[in-house]
Amino acid sequence: MTFSSANQNTIDPLAAFLYHPDMTHDILIELTWELEKTAPPFEGNNIKSPEGLYRHIIKKYTVKGAKVFDPFVGLGTTMFMAEELGRIPYGIEADPNRHQWVAGQLENWTHVVNDDSANIARYEFPKMDIILTCPPFMSRFDKWNPLYDGDPKHAGYDAYLRRMTHILGKIPPVMKKETLLILEGQNIVKGNQFTPLIHDIVKSASKSFKQVGESYVKWINPKTDCPLTTLLIFKKK
Ligand SMILES: C[S@@+](CC[C@H](N)C(=O)[O-])C[C@H]1O[C@@H](n2cnc3c(N)ncnc32)[C@H](O)[C@@H]1O
Repeated sequence: MTFSSANQNTIDPLAAFLYHPDMTHDILIELTWELEKTAPPFEGNNIKSPEGLYRHIIKKYTVKGAKVFDPFVGLGTTMFMAEELGRIPYGIEADPNRHQWVAGQLENWTHVVNDDSANIARYEFPKMDIILTCPPFMSRFDKWNPLYDGDPKHAGYDAYLRRMTHILGKIPPVMKKETLLILEGQNIVKGNQFTPLIHDIVKSASKSFKQVGESYVKWINPKTDCPLTTLLIFKKK
């Protein structure tokens, strides 16, 4: 596993054009794509994020004891990596089965709630040191909106982006001034259909956040549908 960072003297020439002397974020992260934890029997592995990437981000941006929040917990990669590294996980997951599976394996299980993350203000979460998440992805050619669990009243990509804007807009109150929001994102290519999801997520986030960085994760052994992952890095406005 190798990491290229803007702080190092040698910069991958591929990414050199992105270099800015003030930029403290990674430009290019090269990692082996690997899922360390097996998904539960009721799930496939397709929503899980690779542990190695989350371990890297949490180590790079936080210290022991830091509070780490994920508004889309899923199968808990952020939560598990936070506890493994001596940080304190907090999160929200809408799906009751995923919530139960994750919370049941955490020491800090009371910090993970089963709800819609738009309701974050209902909980007395402390101010977090980092927000790290992978929101559910959607193709602009699909109808099934993962932010409403497929509810047909909210079908389609426009409703998805409006909902993304709304949910992300609820997060700043649990952030300190310097807290980073790091979103894992990727564009979606299905056959000849292209969804510029990275651009559209940045647009949604930009209502409440300013973007302060962008890192590219180059998988050494990519899954066929995911050769490149992008980390979108924001601070609150
Ligand atoms: C891409 S997955 C997260 C994967 C996670 N990084 C992991 O490694 O398992 C997104 C998760 O967001 C959840 N979700 C979707 N809409 C939500 C909402 N409004 N509030 C909270 N969770 C939501 C989904 O149920 C799904 O588990």
